[in-house]
Amino acid sequence: MSETQTRRIKTYNQISDKGLSRFNSTHYQVDPALDDAEAILLRSYKLQVSDLTASVRAIARAGAGVNNVPLPACTDQGIVVFNTPGANANAVKELVLSGMLLASRGILPGMRYVSELSDMTDNAEMSKLLEAEKKRFAGSELAGKTLGVIGLGAIGSLVAGMAIDMGMTVLGYDPALSVDAAWRLPNQVQKIENVSALLGNADYVSLHLPVLDSTRHLISTDLVAAMKPGLCLLNFSRDEIVDTDAVVAGLDAGQLRMYVSDFPRHELIGREDVILMPHIGASTAEAEENCAIMAAEQLKDFLENGNIRNS
Ligand code: MLT
Repeated sequence: MSETQTRRIKTYNQISDKGLSRFNSTHYQVDPALDDAEAILLRSYKLQVSDLTASVRAIARAGAGVNNVPLPACTDQGIVVFNTPGANANAVKELVLSGMLLASRGILPGMRYVSELSDMTDNAEMSKLLEAEKKRFAGSELAGKTLGVIGLGAIGSLVAGMAIDMGMTVLGYDPALSVDAAWRLPNQVQKIENVSALLGNADYVSLHLPVLDSTRHLISTDLVAAMKPGLCLLNFSRDEIVDTDAVVAGLDAGQLRMYVSDFPRHELIGREDVILMPHIGASTAEAEENCAIMAAEQLKDFLENGNIRNS
C-alpha cells in the first residue's frame, strides 16, 4: 500500500472496537456512510445487491454464516467474501449446553413457579411449600444419554467434545466432513454415515450446518418420523435447516419431546415443549470481539497484501 493511499471500509452494524482498532491509521477511513468503499465489514445486516457498488472488492462478515450476503452477485462482480469460522464457536457451544440443560431439568417451570410466589412474605412457609411441590420440577441428567451432532465443523466438533466431557455418548454425522475437521474431532465421536440412523439412536440432536440447497429443510417430516421417540432437537444453526411444520407435527405426536431453537417462529411461540431464544448463539462480548478482530485482519491482509485467508 502506498504511503498516500487511503483504504475505505464501510461498516454495517455495531462492530467491536477491538476489531475496528485494527484500522487505526491514517491509511484507513472506516465509516458507515461511505458510498465508494473498497471493502465492507458487517455483522447481521442483510446486504442487498444494490449495496455492492462498483468500488467494492471485498466483504468480511464478522460471524460464521454468510446467508446475509448475496453470494451469487458477489461472485459475478468478483468480490471476495470472508467469514470468521470458529471465532464464535465457544459462545454457541455454551448456549447449546444451556439449551440441553433447560430441556432436561425443571429450570424454566420451576422459575415460573417461584416467581408466582412473590406475594408470600413468610420465607419458612415458602420453603415448606416448595419442598412439597418440587417433585413436579424433577428432571433427568445428561450423563449417560446420547447426543447426535449433525454438522461437524468448528462449532459441531466443540459441542461434541463438550458432551463427551459431560459423560454423554456422541454420534456425529456430516455429509461433507473436511480433512481438517476430521482431525479436530474427538476420537470418541462415533461417525454415522446415515442421518436417519443417528436420529433413531439419539436422545438429543444438535444441528450445526450452513444453509445450502442440500441442507434446507433437512429436518423433514420423514426425518422427524425416523427420530427416537422422546428426542430433544436443538437448532442453533439456521431456521431454514428445519421444516417448522414437520417439527410442530412431531411435537404434537410426541415423537419429539422438546424443540430448542435460536430462531423463533410464530407457530412455536407459547408451547411448553418449545424453548425459543432470540438468535443469541454468538452474542457474547468475547465472540463479538473475536469475530470482529478476525474479520478486520482478513480485510487488512487482503487490502494490503492481496492475501485471501479464512482464518
Ligand atoms: C453466525 O453466523 O456467526 C451466528 O449465527 C451469529 C450471527 O449471525 O450473528
